[in-house]
Amino acid sequence: MKIKNAEFITSAVEKHQYPAEGLPEIAFVGRSNVGKSSSINTLLNRKGIARISQNPGKTRTINFYKVNEEFHFVDLPGYGYAKVSKTEQAKWGGIMERYLSDRQELCSIFLLVDIRHEPKEDDRIMYEWIKHFGYDCTVIATKSDKITRGQYQKHKAMIKNKLGLADEEKIILLSSLKKTGIDEVWDEIISSFER
Ligand code: GTP
Ligand code: MG
Repeated sequence: MKIKNAEFITSAVEKHQYPAEGLPEIAFVGRSNVGKSSSINTLLNRKGIARISQNPGKTRTINFYKVNEEFHFVDLPGYGYAKVSKTEQAKWGGIMERYLSDRQELCSIFLLVDIRHEPKEDDRIMYEWIKHFGYDCTVIATKSDKITRGQYQKHKAMIKNKLGLADEEKIILLSSLKKTGIDEVWDEIISSFER
């Protein structure tokens, strides 16, 4: 995909704050620190468009990015950060549920998991939520540079089993560090527009 144009549009918590242009949306969800913002920057070939930090829990709002004047990338707040209070977690749930339960523009969702670790219970619940709301879900295994090629199959099987993915559901390996897997993710994004 040739990125002619990519810009941050807005941060939102409530519905009335979402962009109203009606552009199709591709959302990225996953645990805090899994690499959502980095993956967005990598896919858009822009260094600092989505903010990255060493501190988990950085992204607390839904952030919308407009790409090529054609569609939006949506960076959703990360879940599962232990140091976040119960009140904050409840707020997070509300933000996510409002967005996922009723967003006409949403075409497909990428669920990001760290390739190194078995997905946690909250990843599995997230996956079930995505299916429950009727969306296509493609899994992106992030930080693929952290394991060797020889370990890929074993880690993919571990992710597939824990999440309970169907055979036809894909796991795409992405490394923002090595810039690998980008074309596979774009192919999936493009085919989701055609569905
Ligand atoms: P929250 O906004 O807190 O939910 O985090 P996030 O999911 O947006 O993660 P973010 O992109 O901020 O990345 C978290 C950390 O992982 C940063 O230190 C990144 O540099 C690192 N990271 C992200 N992607 C990769 C990758 O592909 N390879 C390696 N080695 N590190 C990565
Ligand atoms: Mg982030």
